[in-house]
Amino acid sequence: MFEVLSDIDEIKFYFGAFFEGVTDIGPNGNRHFLIEPINECEISKFGIQKVDVKINGDSVKLKVTLLRPGIFIGKGGKLINALMTYLSTKTGKKVTIDVKEGEYDPWGISLNRNYLKRDVMIELFTKAKSASEKTYSPFSKFPVGAAVLTESGEIYTGSNVENASYSLTLCAERTVLSHMVGTGVRDIKAIAVYGKVESLSPCGACRQFIYEFGKDIVIVFLDEGNVVQKTISELLPYGFDFKK
Ligand code: THU
Repeated sequence: MFEVLSDIDEIKFYFGAFFEGVTDIGPNGNRHFLIEPINECEISKFGIQKVDVKINGDSVKLKVTLLRPGIFIGKGGKLINALMTYLSTKTGKKVTIDVKEGEYDPWGISLNRNYLKRDVMIELFTKAKSASEKTYSPFSKFPVGAAVLTESGEIYTGSNVENASYSLTLCAERTVLSHMVGTGVRDIKAIAVYGKVESLSPCGACRQFIYEFGKDIVIVFLDEGNVVQKTISELLPYGFDFKK
């Protein structure tokens, strides 16, 4: 039986010069780990931002995120080929690959100046995950947690709060934001949200609620098991602004 985490060291051995195995945060029993550059400028020569490996049932899925639009060629392609061969030999499972565009330019600089550095993003997401344990969700039995990062580096957390009348339910995002704003804190840099599913991003109402406090607020959320980030303006184009 193939155990991903026990093999991270081995994968690091082969790819360690360029990559770093990072995390295993996939919900629903799927195993995930990311292979990421230790040094973004170094890895940029290979044209790859990160590789997300997902082991699920009979298949191994590789999601390769490129530094910029286009196909990956040369050393980057060889590296991915080697990783695919390695994983299929190790697991005996079918390895498939999906390639998408990344968030960074060839020099490792974030394409959106508001995006968080990856380690900050993962830390905030992890805080949202812990916050979900404080949920009051006896009706849906669907715990959700949110964590807000302020410009000054503080982190606030909250969870969803449900009600017997159902429609009064507060999402985790609005719970934490109301708490913070009510105490006078409004310098919101980013908000992460977590629920035990493969994909979860803030609902429409919460998007508008977040938009109120900054058009560039970064939202950290799960997309098919990957932790990703977008600004609120990317998630809510043409949001309502009273001042317009
Ligand atoms: N929920 C959140 O807290 N945040 C979201 O972004 C999506 C939905 C909560 C509301 C409700 O308590 C439960 O999830 C099921 O909808």
